[in-house]
Amino acid sequence: MEPAAAASATTALHDYGAQVAGCTKCALAQTRTQVVFGSGAPDADLMFVGEAPGFHEDKNGIPFVGAAGQLLIKLLASIGLERDEIYIANVLKCRPPGNRDPHQEEIEACEGHLFRQIELIQPKVVATLGNFSTKLLTGKSDGITKVHGVEQRVRLGNSDVVLFPIFHPAAALYTPRMLEVLQTDFAKIPALIGRSMPEPQVATPVEEPEVPTSARTAPTDAPAPAAQLGLF
Ligand code: URA
Repeated sequence: MEPAAAASATTALHDYGAQVAGCTKCALAQTRTQVVFGSGAPDADLMFVGEAPGFHEDKNGIPFVGAAGQLLIKLLASIGLERDEIYIANVLKCRPPGNRDPHQEEIEACEGHLFRQIELIQPKVVATLGNFSTKLLTGKSDGITKVHGVEQRVRLGNSDVVLFPIFHPAAALYTPRMLEVLQTDFAKIPALIGRSMPEPQVATPVEEPEVPTSARTAPTDAPAPAAQLGLF
């Protein structure tokens, strides 16, 4: 995006967020603490769309700050990206009570907010996290198990976007095997946004200080170096 266009998109997104903060389009307005509009770079090339705010997001007003969010940030780091370089939003801007699944009428009431966000941000790639965002933005009923990890070209609002479905990070919190699938799919993102993958991190040998043999103690319960270096 050109700098002038980016500046006006930033203002427009900010103003739109202020407007949505008072949304009463569905019954979730009565149970939420606050609207969780979205966060990140208003001119991001990469936008993630999750499902709905949970307990922590509802309290903080920021998407993906709970356990699933921590994993998302680690997955981003594994491809050389930080949270403030991307934009994160959800299908629903308000927390469903008890974190239940979004209801169809809530999605219909809220989807205009997401489409407007996409229109203003104009990301190159929209990565949908899980079934709800994938089905909404592909306009198809194919589930995430079938479509994850393969990009699709879609027209969203007035722009052509690469849509990239991924499992929701929360899935890996309950099914550790899912982490590998997520890592494999995340590794495809840099190419989609025209970046290269970061070099794999190599452990730099730590200079051991000269310690007299007599002063050395046997290791106790210190974690193995591999565990200390491990991303996850
Ligand atoms: N899960 C989501 O889908 N969105 C959040 O913001 C947090 C957890």
